[in-house]
Amino acid sequence: MNSNILIGDATMPKVVIKIDKVSKIYDNKVKALNNVSLEIYEKEIFSLLGPNGAGKTTLIKIITGQLKPSSGELWILGVSHKEFLNSSVRHRVNFVPQENVIWEKLTVEENMMLMASMYKIPRREAREKVKELMEEFELLDTRKRLASKLSGGMRRKLAIAMALINDPDILILDEPTAGLDPRMRAILLGDIEKLKRKGKTILLTTHIVEEAERLSDRVGIIHRGEIITVDDPSSLKAKACGSEVLDLLFRKIDDVVLEAVVRIINGHDYIKVGDKILIKGDNLLGILNELRKNKLLYDSMLNASIRKSTLEDAFLFLTGTMLGE
Ligand SMILES: Nc1ncnc2c1ncn2[C@@H]1O[C@H](COP(=O)(O)OP(=O)(O)O)[C@@H](O)[C@H]1O
Ligand SMILES: [Mg+2]
Repeated sequence: MNSNILIGDATMPKVVIKIDKVSKIYDNKVKALNNVSLEIYEKEIFSLLGPNGAGKTTLIKIITGQLKPSSGELWILGVSHKEFLNSSVRHRVNFVPQENVIWEKLTVEENMMLMASMYKIPRREAREKVKELMEEFELLDTRKRLASKLSGGMRRKLAIAMALINDPDILILDEPTAGLDPRMRAILLGDIEKLKRKGKTILLTTHIVEEAERLSDRVGIIHRGEIITVDDPSSLKAKACGSEVLDLLFRKIDDVVLEAVVRIINGHDYIKVGDKILIKGDNLLGILNELRKNKLLYDSMLNASIRKSTLEDAFLFLTGTMLGE
């Protein structure tokens, strides 16, 4: 009975957001998105990773119905973006923009209760839900404090808790940890992981590799309005740069140094960024030893290490540019 469905469910992830060849051109000139196709699966954490200006916020605004694509189609929980805002699935998706939307002159608790009333949640139920969320996000101690008096991290927690008041299935977070200190960033990443364990689908944007690496089931690398590749972090690194990278830092890389390196690495893929040369491939230790035997290179090398590849390396090898901060 129903065996087909079971097999289907076990092998095929359910697509909750489908984006098909979406482009966005602002003011007839800025091409912010170019032919983006992407699928987001149910209950995964998906990170859009790309530098400032890559098109992340534009894509999020299109998914949440705040912007219309110039061309292309997308479906959210099976509903076309053209009907999304007028459909009931709209309430199964919530969104926290880069700038938190909170009422400064209200307390933490009042902010949450007001949000609940906007969703027409009955008062008693709202009280329980608000308490539960304040507990989960460690906001109970600050519940009587004015939102304007909260730290950046607490404001972000409040904004996320408010977006969860009507229990959406999909939560979309635009740069959730931007501007937070490392401690608060770690706490927030923990909160996001908790939401995944509770069965939410999370789509977030970030330009921070460590974050994408730690959190994501899958990462989509976005660069100049295009999705370059999508995969889980390990496969993405393996595909883009193998398991290890030889990372060389020079005092200065002039033509002589570069030519010597290129000759010795003999066809291995490399990339030069500033005073660094990164090399990917096999037998990196052998290559490092050869490079060290060259006196000119040895003298101008400040540091050399073989390390596990990161998503930053993957981004570099895929796009030829640094992700940066
Ligand atoms: N309202 C707008 N009008 C014109 N250009 C815009 C607008 N919003 C964003 N852009 C441009 O579109 C590109 C993508 O921006 P954005 O989606 O904000 O990228 P990200 O969120 O990855 O930093 C950038 O070149 C940006 O300057
Ligand atoms: Mg943005």
